[in-house]
Amino acid sequence: MAQVVRSVVFPVAGRGTRFLPATKASPKEMLPIVDKPLIQYAVEEAIEAGATKLVFVTGSSKRAIEDHFDADPELEKALTESGKTELLDSIQGIVPDGVSCIYIRQGEPLGLGHAVLCALPAVGDEPFFVHLADDLIDGSPGCLQQMAAEYAEHGGSVVAVETVPQEHTSSYGIVAVDASDRNRITRIIEKPDPADAPSNSAVVGRYLLVPEIFDELQHIGRGAGGEIQLTDGIANLLEKSPVYAYSFDGVRYDCGSKLGYLQATVAYGMKHPETGVEFTAHIEQLVKGTNKN
Ligand code: G1P
Repeated sequence: MAQVVRSVVFPVAGRGTRFLPATKASPKEMLPIVDKPLIQYAVEEAIEAGATKLVFVTGSSKRAIEDHFDADPELEKALTESGKTELLDSIQGIVPDGVSCIYIRQGEPLGLGHAVLCALPAVGDEPFFVHLADDLIDGSPGCLQQMAAEYAEHGGSVVAVETVPQEHTSSYGIVAVDASDRNRITRIIEKPDPADAPSNSAVVGRYLLVPEIFDELQHIGRGAGGEIQLTDGIANLLEKSPVYAYSFDGVRYDCGSKLGYLQATVAYGMKHPETGVEFTAHIEQLVKGTNKN
């Protein structure tokens, strides 16, 4: 029977240069969508999927992430005294009892594969999730829970994929699959030119990996961009153990790009209990105005 997935790795060491100057002194993972930072959406998705060990692989200028998931007695006292119980609940429930946070520094920016390898001492010899907070996925249940269900039924590693325009293949890990074998991945390649891409099925930021991936990551050299690529580790893994491509149910927003971030903000703002009605009316007004011109 498949093991329970208890650990999730959040690689959060990247500097987020695409969002400068906003990310000069604050982590890109702390950018909010309406009223919650991206990394909190990530944590909530992982906890929903059953994770109890949250492993953050961090770097310099990322302290705000640690503070966000820590208790804040001063703020809690102030909110209690002013009777703001809803706000108090919103900050106290971020990390529920029984869930622990572990922070590991990635000393050098050597890539996603290297970041995942840094998490080995915390994860150990167990299957684990990798979650890239830039890829916000609006799904119910969340993408990680969907992947955990797949894994519980069939085992193997699971990688979330979605179809992208052919001209975008150079921004993603791209897979070829055997459709007759539950979309088992037969080939995976990091950021190929459209002309060399084996398909337009792109890896998005959710992985459920068996611990054997660590052996592969320890032995691969530097790949695309001079970095240790998770994709290259998976390419070696799939020769020894099955890795399945999983088309999740939900909408993905690439919050690593300005456009995707704005799209997510609009979508989440339109359905937020506090802002939804008025914000939707405002967007409709804007659209009407645009159509007139
Ligand atoms: C990373 C991975 C890539 C994957 C992408 C998903 O790239 O290396 O394989 O498709 O995340 O968002 P990055 O976006 O960090 O360059």
